[in-house]
Formats: sequence, structure tokens, C-alpha cells
Amino acid sequence: MMREPYPVSVPGLPERVTIYEVGPRDGLQNEPSVVPLEVKAELVGRLADAGLSVVETTSFVHPKWVPQLADAEELLTVMPRKPGVRYPVLVPNERGLERALRLGVTDIAIFGSATETFAQRNLNRSVAGSIRMFAPVVSAASQAGMRVRGYLSMCFGDPWEGPTPIERVVEVGRELLALGCYELSLGDTTGVGTPGHVSALLAAFADAEVGPDRLAVHFHDTYGQALANTLAALQAGITVVDASTGGIGGCPFAESATGNLATEDLVWMLHGLGIETGVDLASIVRTGGWIAERLGRPGPSRVVSALSEK
Ligand code: HMG
Ligand code: MG
Repeated sequence: MMREPYPVSVPGLPERVTIYEVGPRDGLQNEPSVVPLEVKAELVGRLADAGLSVVETTSFVHPKWVPQLADAEELLTVMPRKPGVRYPVLVPNERGLERALRLGVTDIAIFGSATETFAQRNLNRSVAGSIRMFAPVVSAASQAGMRVRGYLSMCFGDPWEGPTPIERVVEVGRELLALGCYELSLGDTTGVGTPGHVSALLAAFADAEVGPDRLAVHFHDTYGQALANTLAALQAGITVVDASTGGIGGCPFAESATGNLATEDLVWMLHGLGIETGVDLASIVRTGGWIAERLGRPGPSRVVSALSEK
């Protein structure tokens, strides 16, 4: 029988957390090789079957920039879908939105940067230029009845610019929300954040009247801080946490970006804190192990390696 954590609740934490699964998108965008379409489609199906209610599937970006996700149209056509599950896709510009609209997508995410260097590297524009690029996307998408999430990258530090000033993160974050995003996901793209920094950033957003109900957190685990950072975010009232099965992932345009917080490690911690997720631990562990096999190497998730049959 699969081991489970022993639940011990802590006062002041949320009763339920939504895990926003990004494995098929953030996980596979950084793979050295292109993962076959059937594997991607099976991954999406397995994640929804494990009980995840949001599965970010792919990106409608320039196929030359991210060849790993150039099959976005095909994936959306063949992947299995479960009623009640949302399947967001990344869309940077109007061209991406046209592609998403043709496929009947209902949830998209735009993705800005808190730093100029990463905005240039990831979007080929300044921070202000990228917000100008997103504005018509958010308004047309909202008019078409889509839900639009905003991501903000490099919220803690940037490999070229060093620590990101908290007031700058709040400023750019508020601009993205003001475009009409229902939620802003704060990205620690290269995993340099630590828990006190997370608390300070969330407090600065609260001071600027952006409460935890409008925010999500998106941690990469480069320095092993992702779970500790998540706990700090839960203490500040955050109830949406991004994660990727098996801990796969990273951004090809950010130096030293490694895998996201592993969904399995997150589920273990949340269930141990008595927090509901709706995710079946045994099922997501099997998926984390299965995708690692498909990618041909063991994944970084500690919970997957602890619970997988040897
Ligand atoms: P650009 O080169 O400035 O684009 O790239 P452009 O508007 O000048 O257009 C140039 C050509 O690209 C045109 O074609 C367009 O039609 C075409 P041409 O006329 O030359 O034949 N084009 C497109 N084709 C297909 N789909 C599109 C599209 N857009 C233009 N959507 C652009 C600007 C934003 C497109 C480019 O920089 C890009 O694709 N960037 C994607 C970067 C990316 O996907 N990064 C990874 C995701 S972000 C991330 O991982 C961080 C996150 O996880 C949070 C965190 O961890 O912090 C979210
Ligand atoms: Mg990311």
C-alpha cells in the first residue's frame, strides 16, 4: 500500500488549495528533445485523472522560439478532456490569441516580466512594450469570454540584474492585473527566492491592495526552496499554487532555470498539513514516474522517488 503523510493541521492555513499543474507546458518546454504528441496527450489525460482541476497544456508562441511546443494545435485536437477541468494555454500576442480562438480555448495566460533583461530575452520587448503587446490580447480574450491569467517572471531575482526590487514587482504586477487578468501568478523563474522574501513580497502586494485571492505562486526548485516558499505563501493566505508533475521543467530563456516545484512533493506537504487538494497521491506519483521514464532520466521529485516501486 502507498504510504501517505500523517495529517496534522496548522491553524491559520487554508482548508483547500488549488494546484495549478504546469507540467505539460513549463515541464516540456525546456526538454532537449521534442516529446511525442501521444506522450503529451497521455500526460494531460493522466493529470486530469489524478484529480487536478487545472492542467496548463501548451503555448501558442512562436514555434521557432519554443519548438518543443510547436504541436500546440495538434495537442489540443487530440488530447482527452475531462468535464470540469480547465486546460489553459500560454498566449503572448494577438497572433497567439487567433490560434487559441480557432481551437475553442477557454483559458489563456499572458506572461510578463518584472525585469527588463528577461522581458527582452523572453518576449523580444521591454517591460512596457510587452504590456502594450498584452493589452489587446486580454481585452479581445475577455470579450470572447475567456479567462485570462497573468504570470509575472523574475519576481525575486534575475540572473542578469540581481535581486528584483519588491516595489518594481508590485508595480508591474498591478499593471498586468489592471489589464483584466483574474489572477496573477508570481514566478520565481530561477528559484532564487527564500521564505522571508516571499512573505515580504506578499505583504507589499497586500499593502498595495492586491490580496492573496488575486495571487498565485509559481516556484522553481533550483535551490531547494520551493516547498518552504510555498509554506510562507500559504501563511499569507495564498490558495493557488503552481507545480509540475515529477518536478520537470524550466524556462529556456532564463539561465539556470530548473524544474518547477514537483506536484507530488506539494501534495505530500499539503495533505500532511490537512489541506485538501482533490489530487490522488498514488495516481500523481505514478504519473511523475511515468513521465520521467518517457524523458529517459529520473526526475527530481523526492516524493516520486520515495514512493515509486524499486
Ligand atoms: P517576435 O519575434 O518579436 O515576434 O517574438 P513578431 O511579433 O515580431 O513576429 C515575428 C514573426 O513571428 C511573424 O512571422 C509572426 O507571424 C510570428 P513572419 O511574418 O516573420 O513570418 N509570430 C507567431 N507565430 C506563431 N504564434 C505566435 C506568433 N507571434 C509571432 N504567437 C514572441 C515575440 C512573443 C512571439 C516571441 O518572443 C515568443 O514566442 N516568445 C515565447 C517565449 C516563451 O514561450 N517562453 C517560455 C514561457 S515563459 C516562462 O516559462 C515563465 C513562466 O513559467 C513563469 C516563471 O517561471 O517565471 C510562465
Ligand atoms: Mg515557470
